Amino acid sequence: MSEHFDVHGGARLVGEVEVVGAKNSVLKLMAAALLAEGTTTITNCPQILDVPLMADVLRSVGCEVVLDGDTTYITTPAELSHRADSSAMGKLRASVCVLGPLVGRLKKAVVALPGGDAIGSRPLDMHQNGLRKLGATSAIEHGCVVAESDGLHGAQIWLDFPSVGATENILMASVLAEGTTVIDNAAREPEIVDVCTMLTEMGAKIEGGGTSTLTVHGVEALHPTEHRVIGDRIVGATWAFAAVMTRGDLTVTGVNPHHLDLVLEKLRLAGAEVTAYDDKGFRIVQADRPRSVDFVTLPYPGFATDLQPFAVALSSVSEGTSMITENVYEARFRFIEEMIRLGADARTDGHHAVVRGIDRLSSAPVWASDIRAGAGLVLAGLCADGVTEVWDVFHIDRGYPHFVENLNRLGARIDRVATQPDRS
Ligand code: UD1
Repeated sequence: MSEHFDVHGGARLVGEVEVVGAKNSVLKLMAAALLAEGTTTITNCPQILDVPLMADVLRSVGCEVVLDGDTTYITTPAELSHRADSSAMGKLRASVCVLGPLVGRLKKAVVALPGGDAIGSRPLDMHQNGLRKLGATSAIEHGCVVAESDGLHGAQIWLDFPSVGATENILMASVLAEGTTVIDNAAREPEIVDVCTMLTEMGAKIEGGGTSTLTVHGVEALHPTEHRVIGDRIVGATWAFAAVMTRGDLTVTGVNPHHLDLVLEKLRLAGAEVTAYDDKGFRIVQADRPRSVDFVTLPYPGFATDLQPFAVALSSVSEGTSMITENVYEARFRFIEEMIRLGADARTDGHHAVVRGIDRLSSAPVWASDIRAGAGLVLAGLCADGVTEVWDVFHIDRGYPHFVENLNRLGARIDRVATQPDRS
């Protein structure tokens, strides 16, 4: 039985909504718990499907994991298995983040190639090259990354691109390596800073979190800690786009607005009035039809590729023409095909898209291809005439806790319907 959402167009979203911990942080923090024997406690965890999936990955290497509401307890034994090749691995991208901790702690790892969103080619060459620099061998064998070493040592590593996953894996492998590791052209996402903070609480010696150069002085052992996950800036931004697209008035709490500086600036250019509250949240009000704005995706502090579907959805109902450039994941423009079903005037050329805003979208059945595309289609449906059916909503459930409940509370009308789709 599959489920879809019936999204009734014409809503104006008004009210307050709380954002919980970041998906792209909590999954890496759970992997980091492998580095210390004992019980690590992670609070402010989002209740999304990927958390129990990651728990299964950790259980498969010998951890005990208890999920209790928004708190996750991970008990890592003295003896861990180096094989993370269970079926859970294929269900999410972040499962590959156990590679660094396992190699760091056990000196070897066999880690199944990860699954996750179909947003374009997602190679692991930078992860592997980093581990090689630290003194491990690394090869792809029978669908797994196989890495082995006599003992990791510090190294100077230059990344070709500031990859989030490669930075995290190399970081987590190097905290227990002998000597000093320098990762240059490192990713600077707030979620990387969160991982650095938790590792430091566990006894790691890391300098430069949030900059392009991370310096890690290896230590002999780490100890467990209790850590609170940072608020999810991508979910926070989703609410900000929702407010602007529906000409609403939302107060978004639980997220640091400075993690969204560029996003909120773009939305101000679109006509929104934004008030940031220190590091706690923001209010966003849109009175008139939004004006078109150009967007270019780049690693942080650039405009996040995860937000590109929302940029397209907003542009499709804005006044004027927007140019949207995708520099990170080429296949993310697949979302535009679904937007065209809703009547959007959009076309792509390579990694650029041109979107001419129209007054109102027109409801149609559409299919979510990944988490953010799914949420983008729901927001687009709010700006369409009639009832838009959004299918394959399991994607949305992987990233947005209580999405439909929150939208309905804020003034939308969305029904979750369990039926079989007719795609004939
Ligand atoms: C993470 C996020 C994802 C987000 C992305 C970019 C998680 C679970 N997912 O994914 O939501 O869209 O960051 O902000 O945190 N690349 C290589 N070789 C490598 C590694 C990456 O060529 O070894 C390329 C990728 O194909 C992509 C780019 O680098 O074009 C960025 O990827 P990366 O930052 O690694 O993304 P993820 O960590 O997979």
